[in-house]
Amino acid sequence: MTLLNRPKLLSLEEILPLTNDPQLQQKYKIVEGNLLGNLRLGLLLQDLDMLAGKNAKMYIDQFYKDVRVVTAAIDNILIRNIFRANRDIILKSRINYVGKTSMEVGIRIEQDNKHIATCYFTMVARIGDINNDSGAELPSLQYIDEDEKIRAKKALERKNHYLDEIKNIDKPLECEDFKSLFKLYRETQSSTFNGKYMDSFIMENWERTFPEYKNPNQTIFGGYLAKKSFELASLCSESISNGRSIVGAVNRINFYHPVLIGDKLKYTSNVIYTSGPFICVESNIYRIGRGEKKISALTNSCNFTFINVDDKLKALNVEKVYPYSFEDYLKTIVAKETLNKLLMEDSPLLLKDITKDTNIGTD
Ligand SMILES: CC(C)(COP(=O)(O)OP(=O)(O)OC[C@H]1O[C@@H](n2cnc3c(N)ncnc32)[C@H](O)[C@@H]1OP(=O)(O)O)[C@@H](O)C(=O)NCCC(=O)NCCS
Repeated sequence: MTLLNRPKLLSLEEILPLTNDPQLQQKYKIVEGNLLGNLRLGLLLQDLDMLAGKNAKMYIDQFYKDVRVVTAAIDNILIRNIFRANRDIILKSRINYVGKTSMEVGIRIEQDNKHIATCYFTMVARIGDINNDSGAELPSLQYIDEDEKIRAKKALERKNHYLDEIKNIDKPLECEDFKSLFKLYRETQSSTFNGKYMDSFIMENWERTFPEYKNPNQTIFGGYLAKKSFELASLCSESISNGRSIVGAVNRINFYHPVLIGDKLKYTSNVIYTSGPFICVESNIYRIGRGEKKISALTNSCNFTFINVDDKLKALNVEKVYPYSFEDYLKTIVAKETLNKLLMEDSPLLLKDITKDTNIGTD
């Protein structure tokens, strides 16, 4: 059998045939009707994770029999064009790069020949009992043509960027950060202040993982957690939106620990920053193991950016949210920085497209 050892040979394509399948359309719609952007991104994240896992297994299964593949991270997802719930979704998946035990799977999402978004999943090969497993080493890929080389280089850059971010986690605040925080603080101290604090916009949800959810790895897929987390964030964004809130970007999610059957999971979402029509929601997932009392973070804090729009996708401003505690102030800085970076992106983004005619700044 020929060895599949080049990105080109490790590619998959799947179609979600929404155009001619009313039942599938129904499943993916957020609300009834044919509104633009009416698509459950959470559900799609779950499909994407499954496809990434399948693609990763295509490579790994050539060398090992009993290796599990787990999702270590889902990199930033930038939505470039509006989703339609009544058009086929084409998912093009490919392994871009293989490291020692991890690999990057890139998935391009298209509708009507339009590029909607690209997602990058870091999948890791693990061997041994789930409570005492270790990384399974993988042979590297052959990157032969220019396209394969460029994609591999970019994948490695994303990996190094993530490793650098971990190192810079405690970076000191800039003077500009202090100035903008002080401005916010002054507003809250005014005798006429009647704004709302961040803690007015918190939602949380608990669930137990049942044997029914078990996959062949005996664990829960990262895509399932991303779906649940996104759906709570979306509800939370609606607690401040005065129109519809549609998603514009998802920040990187890192999965630190596996979820076992019987674990209790806590999802939290909080509107931490708003600017013009943009709503930034921070989400976290925590875990309590079966028979344990200790709660631990399962993921990093992930930010979802939503845009508040009317039915015709015209951007509508939302009210400002104010930090209260020192921790809240730090969250405001991160969210503001994240949003500003997104708005400075060179390539087309839904976040910019929707707002470009409305002349709304970020502050
Ligand atoms: C992913 C996981 C196995 C990594 O464990 P670890 O002790 O950090 O292992 P290592 O340091 O050996 O890392 C293994 C590889 O994954 C990469 N990696 C780990 N976390 C990563 C992340 N968040 N983003 C990118 N790469 C990551 C490492 O760079 C390394 O790559 P390499 O072997 O190709 O050089 C561990 O964090 C885990 O089990 N997470 C939960 C996975 C899971 O179950 N997901 C689904 C539901 S939560």
